[in-house]
Amino acid sequence: MIHSFTVHTSDDRSMETVVAFGRGLRHRLPDTEALPGKRRLYVIDRNVHEAWQEDFRLGDANVFVIPPGERAKSAETLLAICSDLARRSFERTDALVSIGGGACGDVTGLAASLFLRGIAVAHVPTTIVSMVDAALGGKCAIDIAEGKNLIGSFWTPSRLIIDPDLLRTLPSNEVRAGFGEVAKYAIGFDAELEPLIHSTRAQAPEGLDAVILRCLQIKADIVAHDLRESDRGKRILLNLGHTTAHAIEAWALARDIIVGHGEAVAFGIRCAIAISLERGLIASREASRCVALLDLIGAAKSLAELVGPHEAPTTRDLAPYLAADKKVRSGRLRAVLPIAFGACEVHDATIDEFLEAISSLSRS
Ligand SMILES: NC(=O)c1ccc[n+]([C@@H]2O[C@H](COP(=O)([O-])OP(=O)(O)OC[C@H]3O[C@@H](n4cnc5c(N)ncnc54)[C@H](O)[C@@H]3O)[C@@H](O)[C@H]2O)c1
Ligand SMILES: [Zn+2]
Repeated sequence: MIHSFTVHTSDDRSMETVVAFGRGLRHRLPDTEALPGKRRLYVIDRNVHEAWQEDFRLGDANVFVIPPGERAKSAETLLAICSDLARRSFERTDALVSIGGGACGDVTGLAASLFLRGIAVAHVPTTIVSMVDAALGGKCAIDIAEGKNLIGSFWTPSRLIIDPDLLRTLPSNEVRAGFGEVAKYAIGFDAELEPLIHSTRAQAPEGLDAVILRCLQIKADIVAHDLRESDRGKRILLNLGHTTAHAIEAWALARDIIVGHGEAVAFGIRCAIAISLERGLIASREASRCVALLDLIGAAKSLAELVGPHEAPTTRDLAPYLAADKKVRSGRLRAVLPIAFGACEVHDATIDEFLEAISSLSRS
């Protein structure tokens, strides 16, 4: 069954995203009228290309394969995509289509926002993280040595085509990472997701479809009212778990260590719960329910578990990365903290509170 809905982010038609969701949609990419552009270049994550190119039936001519995962979020890949578009004499009426996870979508979206001062983009997300979160909402960015996502823009995709069958080849660590982002929606926004997440344990595809659609709907509602993450809007709440996650990811990136974004987010939510408990913002029963969900999805319980075989960073190692957070204002962080299962709020917090939460988790 195919679900289709439109997310309006303003009265301007160029700011709307039409979402098509259905198993098997990947077979229809070349002839789909749903995609923008007179001509299209498909930018595809290498692992996804290897696993699915026969189903996509795009031929080689319109395809640009990029390195897998986070390594694609570089200035090099960004410029390579733009150079390829220039060599093909792409015009303002042509479009880019990303087929991959959040990393592929981020670098492709940024290239679309910059080439000829902006051409249309559509995303075909292939990870849980990108289906429930990254592909919708228009944020796109690349990393530099100084930090993650530091060069970016907002560029609303005109279409999303979501085929959950593509998740069949997703490695198990990426599935776990995806559930980190799903846990964000459950713990921060919607307690009714909790039983749906439990139902996905039965491995029934319908359970996962329901989870993805529900998360998408939450994100759609938030970005429809607050596309640019304004001070008083709700989009900032989507950063639950992300302050800690981005600091750890940036530390890892500088050392060529890959930490899955969703896995770092799940650990970051543990830290946010610890801060909420310490401040008395959340009842301990509610906090335990949040923690139980994180345990269920296999979220890392300590920094050491999160970074795997590598030596874990100390809190002193992480401090500069927390200080570089985009949400720092006058030395204080804008922290998203759970106040009950299914609800969160923004509070000012110090970097030391985050560091204390991280080390308390690693001690317990
Ligand atoms: N723009 C946003 O709003 C937003 C939101 C969340 C995350 N992000 C960004 O997204 C990135 C993380 O994205 P992600 O978690 O989707 O992972 P990813 O794009 O980094 O991919 C992870 C790995 O999975 C592989 N892969 C992807 N799809 C596959 C499939 N169907 N089968 C087999 N292998 C597959 C990739 O090759 C890669 O090795 C981070 O850079 C994060 O900052 C952006
Ligand atoms: Zn995220």
